[in-house]
Amino acid sequence: MSKLSILVARAIFPETIARLAQCFEVTANQSDDLWDRATLIEKLRGKAGVFTTGGERIDAELLAACPDLRICANMAVGYNNFDLAAMTAAGVLGTNTPDVLTETTADFGFALLLATARRLTESEHFLRAGQWNKWAFDMFAGAEVNGSTLGILGMGRIGQGIARRGAHGFGMNVIYHNRSRLDAATEAACKARYVDKATLLREADHLVLVLPYSPASHHAIGAAELAQMKPTATLVNVARGGIVDDAALAQALRERRIAAAGLDVFEGEPRVHPDLLTVPNVVLTPHIASATVRTRRAMADLAADNLINFLTQGQPKTPLNPEALAGARR
Ligand code: GLV
Repeated sequence: MSKLSILVARAIFPETIARLAQCFEVTANQSDDLWDRATLIEKLRGKAGVFTTGGERIDAELLAACPDLRICANMAVGYNNFDLAAMTAAGVLGTNTPDVLTETTADFGFALLLATARRLTESEHFLRAGQWNKWAFDMFAGAEVNGSTLGILGMGRIGQGIARRGAHGFGMNVIYHNRSRLDAATEAACKARYVDKATLLREADHLVLVLPYSPASHHAIGAAELAQMKPTATLVNVARGGIVDDAALAQALRERRIAAAGLDVFEGEPRVHPDLLTVPNVVLTPHIASATVRTRRAMADLAADNLINFLTQGQPKTPLNPEALAGARR
């Protein structure tokens, strides 16, 4: 029997390509060219599956142009690059990579919180620039982390991981807001208290955003929300660009209406709002929260498992829209 064809849209571990090649005719992109949409559609013609990494927009127009496509396997837990309703309507399955990155991403969220509160990058730049010629009592005095109030907006798996680190590791008082309240056992494990969004903004010393991006969460933190935060508070975003209004945040940081921010994700990344690059009180990282070698391998393995299991046995591991299976393309 001839093998089905798939596309791997971005560069990935050679071992992952080799594994996929045992089951499929693979078109890879190991030179990691950034294809425009027309090129992506062209490359997808005749392919039964695609391995995506979160930046490729899969929507009704693309699905109509690629009638052989049956599965889009994202190597990411977030899937706002997928129009899931359009995929379900077209009988195309979407998968993501939950669980395997939870603890690693929670580690990074906490690292960014610490770096932001304790002014790590700002002070390192000062030292590297040769400006350190004497110690001073108030040099880079930051915000206390231990014993302070940690606010979490979006209390899924990663949010819970950050809450556990704060409560158990740093003795923080954890409050959270989420679309739905967690059950009592989960709240107890995280030592977290449910509050409304206004209370979260008002009371948090450190506010961490871990909610998924959707039109409903677009600019969930804008000028009005920043104005409700303490002037001493810090804000950390490890969720998605677009959840924070970056222009409003840069202005709030410049005017010291909040103390500092730590951002791993940006509106329109890899572009970064120019105003964020000129304010000192922000720690900026290039969307690397899940980037450890072990976790990235686990994510690649899971995305590959989804392609292999679905296209060879009809059994994806982590389907996002299992209802698509009823009308699935063949
Ligand atoms: C990374 O941002 C992911 O969604 O996995």
